[in-house]
Amino acid sequence: MTHDNWIAILDYGSQVTQLIARRIREQKVYCEIIRFDTSAEELKQRAPKGIILSGGPCSVPDDDSPKCDPAIFDIGIPILGICYGMQLTAHLLGGSVFSSNKREYGKAAMQISFPCKLFDGLEDDLQVWMSHGDKVETLPDGFTAVAKSDNCQYAAIQNIEKNIYGLQFHPEVVHTPEGATMLKNFALEICGCAASWEMAAFVESTVQSIREKVGSDHVLLGLSGGVDSSVVAALLFKAIGSQLHCVFVDNGLLRHNEVEDVENLFGDTFGIDLHVAHAADAFLDKLEGVTDPEEKRKIIGNTFIDIFAEEARNIGPIKYLAQGTLYPDVIESISPIGGPSATIKSHHNVGGLPEDLQFDLIEPLRELFKDEVREVGRELELPDYVVDRQPFPGPGLAVRIIGDITRDQLEVLRQADLRVREEIMAMDNNLDVWQYFAVLLPIQSVGVMGDSRTYENVIAVRAVESRDGMTADWYKLPYDVMDSISNRIINEVKGVNRVVYDISSKPPATIEWE
Ligand code: XMP
Repeated sequence: MTHDNWIAILDYGSQVTQLIARRIREQKVYCEIIRFDTSAEELKQRAPKGIILSGGPCSVPDDDSPKCDPAIFDIGIPILGICYGMQLTAHLLGGSVFSSNKREYGKAAMQISFPCKLFDGLEDDLQVWMSHGDKVETLPDGFTAVAKSDNCQYAAIQNIEKNIYGLQFHPEVVHTPEGATMLKNFALEICGCAASWEMAAFVESTVQSIREKVGSDHVLLGLSGGVDSSVVAALLFKAIGSQLHCVFVDNGLLRHNEVEDVENLFGDTFGIDLHVAHAADAFLDKLEGVTDPEEKRKIIGNTFIDIFAEEARNIGPIKYLAQGTLYPDVIESISPIGGPSATIKSHHNVGGLPEDLQFDLIEPLRELFKDEVREVGRELELPDYVVDRQPFPGPGLAVRIIGDITRDQLEVLRQADLRVREEIMAMDNNLDVWQYFAVLLPIQSVGVMGDSRTYENVIAVRAVESRDGMTADWYKLPYDVMDSISNRIINEVKGVNRVVYDISSKPPATIEWE
């Protein structure tokens, strides 16, 4: 899609560059994180209304540190440099940067000493978050200091004539309480962007561009029932109706009623051409006796591809494969120092399809963050239980049964997992819990029931809070919720006499047990 009301963020590798994008989008302004060395020529062509240079871990005076095209300062588009981005601005425009190993890290009190549009509507004394070693030592011509902190005489600088600004601190993090207002002032007041990036408009223009791209061809989508593929399905269906064909693979490793839910919603309610491959036997036969987690994943991945490919061949000539790739998956490759590991994300994609099934890709959610995808889902009238769904791993319950997998164990786990989910979903703040589920352990323990001794399964309950799944902390469930989970599992699920709670964080543990 092309945008004419947007902000470009040049990425110098800060861990919080994505937060700048989040803050700008919260102001209903579209923005993109792009390469740090994007040329002035390209920027002129794509005509953003403002440019932000992000922070980064390198040192500007080093010869090999990432630099922007110096010509961007002459395009006449407002520029905001943040931390490394401010030092880069000062360095390239003739000021100097002092390199130091001593870091200033944490909260700082800042005093504004000169009017600056970035701080419109704010008090003169503000708390900000610093995280830097290097500092600007002398300002380039045309720049003035507008704010200082105890340790930093140039906490904020500006060149009013050229509309160029620099902040030594990070306005994008929550520890700078008024930072969102500063970024809002930059986007709306200084750059003159309109607050018009709405999900309803996104749906409308995406539907239009999908129609233009697809024409009379056909599109295939692997539907998993998760948020991303469900939203892609609803979006594509709105755009091209019966030219969309969805394949849902029932691998026998899904949660209670999951297959029926997908069939009801997408097949019956939406009326999408949905092909459900009932392939539990193919998966479970191959998994028999397999205990190694990676071996399980490999078998499940390969079997999925075989079955998906067979279904696709039966559907007929298809030009496009749709995928639910999201914006964070796209930006990881842009940073000069490489983004966080892409391996966790790679399991979203249907890689490794056979040669006779080569498709062009359609990725309609490429520009969106996860919460924006949920909003699009609501816009398309997907039910809350789909839009707010927690992540569920591709290998499904196979990685939640420790050791080898039998049909009986799968049923025990499914029933226990259902009770965990029902009890936590009934909790007021259940949306604060990132993920919650049951794990079946490969041990039996002794119990008593009436007068007799039992020797039965142990279920571990896992609930975690997390922002992105990369790190996580165990969730402090209220005791009464733990109590009802345990009571219900032990009383209602045959074959379980003990329930334990997992109190490990990631790292060093992981969210899943395998
Ligand atoms: P871990 O267990 O590595 O999980 O802390 C991080 C997030 O990724 C999910 N996960 C997977 N998702 N295929 C997937 O599609 C997998 O093999 C897989 N393993 C873990 C996990 O549920 C959590 O949200």
